[in-house]
Amino acid sequence: MQLNYDIKLIVLKEKNALITGSSRGIGQQIAIGLAQKGCNIIVHGRTKESNKKTLKILREYAVKTYSVFGDLADEGQIKELIDQVSALNISVDILYNNAGIMRDYREDIWSHTTEDWLVTYKVNVVAMYKLCGAFIPSMIKNKFGRIVNTTSRIMNQPELSPYGASKWAVDKLTQDIAFALKDTPVRINYFDPGWLKTDLGGENAENPVQAALPGALIPVLIDDDGPNGQFFSASEHKK
Ligand SMILES: NC(=O)c1ccc[n+]([C@@H]2O[C@H](COP(=O)([O-])OP(=O)(O)OC[C@H]3O[C@@H](n4cnc5c(N)ncnc54)[C@H](OP(=O)(O)O)[C@@H]3O)[C@@H](O)[C@H]2O)c1
Repeated sequence: MQLNYDIKLIVLKEKNALITGSSRGIGQQIAIGLAQKGCNIIVHGRTKESNKKTLKILREYAVKTYSVFGDLADEGQIKELIDQVSALNISVDILYNNAGIMRDYREDIWSHTTEDWLVTYKVNVVAMYKLCGAFIPSMIKNKFGRIVNTTSRIMNQPELSPYGASKWAVDKLTQDIAFALKDTPVRINYFDPGWLKTDLGGENAENPVQAALPGALIPVLIDDDGPNGQFFSASEHKK
């Protein structure tokens, strides 16, 4: 794993990671990458059914796996998801806020609906904020925690404005939470996977979904005094 700066890497064996949107796409790759490092994985998708494929893939690794579900656009389901995780009676050491949505590409840039804006912000930003609020306090108590928020460097695409703006909000939210965590060993950073072939990225994307690794793992592997509120990208850490 190539690093462009001097950071110590930690061991993940026996740590537990909740990865939102790990039923497919980039989140599934992150789940595989963390399982390869010995990390137990809490798989999340919108439904129990959608988690099955990732759970099957993870059988290959000697780690514990758990399944939780819920639609992050729905505040009640976010609460239920937090309850499902609490009921597992394990610590959440790593929170990977990966789930995200992008609404329709609109040639007429003024035709994004209020619903497009609200649902995009609910899933991409508000749910992230709620999950941070649910799990960061116990990370501080346990003196260990890593949070990674998935962003995008999407630029100059007003046809996808609600998505682009929501990702800039992700960056700002991450920086604000990082400031609140600066005197703790808990680290929060944001990560851009690059344009990848997934259901969201589409088939014309530049790279296969596997290109999310190993870069996606770096902001998890950093030490307690490592970067906080910083930007990471998969393109910096190519295989
Ligand atoms: N692909 C790219 O080119 C690219 C580039 C930059 C950033 N990103 C970001 O990377 C992240 C993952 O993207 P991806 O390309 O892997 O997307 P994807 O293939 O569409 O997968 C989306 C994942 O999020 C879950 N999800 C979708 N809507 C949800 C909702 N309302 N509530 C809860 N979970 C929901 C899905 O669960 P189900 O399977 O149950 O539907 C699935 O696990 C996103 O934040 C995206 O913005 C992607």
